[in-house]
Amino acid sequence: MSERVIITDVGPRDGLQNQPKILSVEQRVELVQAIAAAGVPQIEVGSFVSPKAVPAMAGTDLVFAALDTAGFTVPTIALIPNMKGYELARAAGAKTVTMVLYASDGMAQKNAAMSMAEAEDVTLKILALAKQDGIDVIATIAVAFACPFDGPTDPAVVEIIAAKFMAAGADQVVLADTIGAAHPQQVRDLTAALVARHGAEKLGCHFHDTRAMGLANVYAAVESGIRRFDSSIAGLGGCPFAPGASGNVATDDIAMMLQQMGFDTGINLDKLMQASDLAQALTGTAPGGRSKAWLQSHLAKQAG
Ligand code: COA
Ligand code: ZN
Repeated sequence: MSERVIITDVGPRDGLQNQPKILSVEQRVELVQAIAAAGVPQIEVGSFVSPKAVPAMAGTDLVFAALDTAGFTVPTIALIPNMKGYELARAAGAKTVTMVLYASDGMAQKNAAMSMAEAEDVTLKILALAKQDGIDVIATIAVAFACPFDGPTDPAVVEIIAAKFMAAGADQVVLADTIGAAHPQQVRDLTAALVARHGAEKLGCHFHDTRAMGLANVYAAVESGIRRFDSSIAGLGGCPFAPGASGNVATDDIAMMLQQMGFDTGINLDKLMQASDLAQALTGTAPGGRSKAWLQSHLAKQAG
């Protein structure tokens, strides 16, 4: 049996939050359902953040309600920046939340109007509540490699935060290259150190493709033993609070690469192309994976 890699598609959150075009709740639900239909095992469907700060994520509660009504069963995740976000996510029925931590004070201030330490304190409180509420918590460490405001990140800072939240019982700890500034050697070193200390089971990586290093960084992390990755359908995305950030590594590309390497992603590439087409049609801006043209003609030949 081939080894499993868990891909979480964050396109409906990380991707859509930065689009000039704001999708309706129905369109967001349609996109989530198309990604799920391709077999993607986890989807970050939206965030509970200030609608003034991120207008595209207003109505995430309605997205959750519509998915629930439709009998949606694929695990859904909501990103939250603070306690209010946690309360809103819980009220909407989220079973998993991604709480954002920071490896720099500059990013913590810009993204959440907090210091790094304040974000850590709130996350510890959220973890305690979530245990009682039966909600899983993913602790994502933003700017784990570099910050657009404070410059390169000291890996020791990330190691300390990761250790603290592993010990506090986070269900996963994810290293986020928020602005796509990491290179594979850095990724290999940091992920190898973390896997040696904590094992790979609860560790994940989240790469942006700003400098075309997305897949190379995924590969470096795979080599260290990481088996959980965030990616976004059709490479949608960017972060509105991180200057210069472009989309996540495309689910189209990462699924193809991992499958060719012999990993089991559970993803049907044919159906993934349909979801990717939909993401492009709905937004008009999603680039589509670099592999997409080849994949589509290859899959058409196989079918023909
Ligand atoms: N969800 C919805 N509304 C929220 C909220 C949340 N999680 N947290 C705060 N708010 C509301 C407050 O109720 C308040 O509303 P009001 O103006 O109607 O009274 C308003 O937002 C401002 O609240 P305040 O606590 O003063 O926060 P702020 O202005 O310092 O903004 C954040 C901080 C975190 C709320 C805001 O910057 C934000 O939502 N950022 C999102 C960041 C993001 O999504 N980044 C990308 C993912 S990493
Ligand atoms: Zn991101």
